[in-house]
Amino acid sequence: MKKRYAVCGVSSRALAMYIRPMVKNFAHVAEFVGMLDIDPLRFQICKEDIPETKDVATYMPDEFDKMIAEQKPDAIIVTSMDCTHKNYVILALKNDLDVICEKPMTTNTADALEIRAVEKQSKGKVICTFNYRYNPVHTKVKDLVNSGKIGRVTHVDLTWYIDIAHGSSYFNRWNRKRENSGSLSIHKASHHFDLVNWWISGIPEAVHAFGALNHYGPNGVFNPSKKDGRHCTGCPEKMQCPYKKRWTTRNSEVAIKDDHLTAFQTTRKLFTTYRPDMCIFDSEINIHDTIVANVRYKNGALLNYSANFSTPYEGYHLAINGTHGRIETREFVGMGAMALPPVHEDGGTQYIDYFPIFEGRERIHVPKNDGGHGGGDPLILEDIFLGEVPDRKFDILAKSVDGLRSISVGDAVYNSIMDGEVKDLTSFME
Ligand SMILES: NC(=O)c1ccc[n+]([C@@H]2O[C@H](COP(=O)([O-])OP(=O)(O)OC[C@H]3O[C@@H](n4cnc5c(N)ncnc54)[C@H](O)[C@@H]3O)[C@@H](O)[C@H]2O)c1
Repeated sequence: MKKRYAVCGVSSRALAMYIRPMVKNFAHVAEFVGMLDIDPLRFQICKEDIPETKDVATYMPDEFDKMIAEQKPDAIIVTSMDCTHKNYVILALKNDLDVICEKPMTTNTADALEIRAVEKQSKGKVICTFNYRYNPVHTKVKDLVNSGKIGRVTHVDLTWYIDIAHGSSYFNRWNRKRENSGSLSIHKASHHFDLVNWWISGIPEAVHAFGALNHYGPNGVFNPSKKDGRHCTGCPEKMQCPYKKRWTTRNSEVAIKDDHLTAFQTTRKLFTTYRPDMCIFDSEINIHDTIVANVRYKNGALLNYSANFSTPYEGYHLAINGTHGRIETREFVGMGAMALPPVHEDGGTQYIDYFPIFEGRERIHVPKNDGGHGGGDPLILEDIFLGEVPDRKFDILAKSVDGLRSISVGDAVYNSIMDGEVKDLTSFME
């Protein structure tokens, strides 16, 4: 029998990642029975883009119970603005329904703990869709650490670069406010913290961080003038803004691929909740674009992490050191790339180097998979809609406890940046 799914938040992510695959690739096992959003324009865009959804029932946020009563879904997919996740996750769990929740599960530690408590009383279970785990390189890193090749993990060194196109896009949208996204230390970095937690089977215990808003906000060095409330579309200062000038001409609007802008520019209608082309130099921005953090884990491992949201190319450097060796890998991607370092030349695929502690090196090339997030998106979808592969060597589909652990590191990072203190997570960490 097909499983029935309703979607809360008909976002760009919902359309591309869940609704389209559900009606095209997984129609033999899944039925899309209802959609809920605060903005009716989102329903219209969904029905126009994906004609198979034209008869799917639509609901406003206060009609969640009505949606459950009328459509009788088996599971709820939560893909709305981050700060609204908690409400729908808890409503679903109270109705004993399974939940598939986009990251971050919620926007602060207290809400994540509340979800965990409600889940314990429910017949429903929460899946957190940490798709980065399914990128074949990241899965291979887990496999290598899990196999014991590097011994006990002592230290992880992770540096993430988010380029001028991708990085600035967060500051164009709702993500730029702590109250909406929890900040980039949660909205974005929870992906990275989850990867480290998972790779090293680590439970985070203590966090200290520094951070700054260097590139965006009114004091951004490339701000053409200190004014609030500008929008990129039709902005008279567009040619004085290097971030936008990079992608436009005097006569064209933003010309890079961006799901949010395309929907906005095609319909030329304003979404009820926000515009995706708000000025990256607005003074309401209250998050950081430069983050460094240290984390100590219960198993003794230490992490040093950094993220920069305005770099010339996109990617990361990762090294995991252990008592018996070290593995390292680098990724370079992104539309902003002017000159990519030549790391993928050796065989054309990303590789992982394994260095045993006393001698030698082994280079492991990881075959690519097509699809979003390094090929992780299509793989996680199979686990979600077809069920998990039974004979895996380790768990990969993340649960609410993983949501909690990643959020609590990100939340501690934000709070530590603000007050300079080391945050102790031991009192509530499971
Ligand atoms: N796993 C990933 O790699 C990945 C990638 C992109 C986005 N995401 C996540 O997907 C979610 C959507 O992100 P997006 O960038 O596509 O968002 P978006 O800006 O396209 O859409 C946000 C949606 O939330 C809706 N919304 C706002 N308030 C609401 C409310 N009270 N009730 C119901 N709906 C409400 C908006 O109307 C809109 O449809 C976010 O949680 C984001 O973190 C995850």
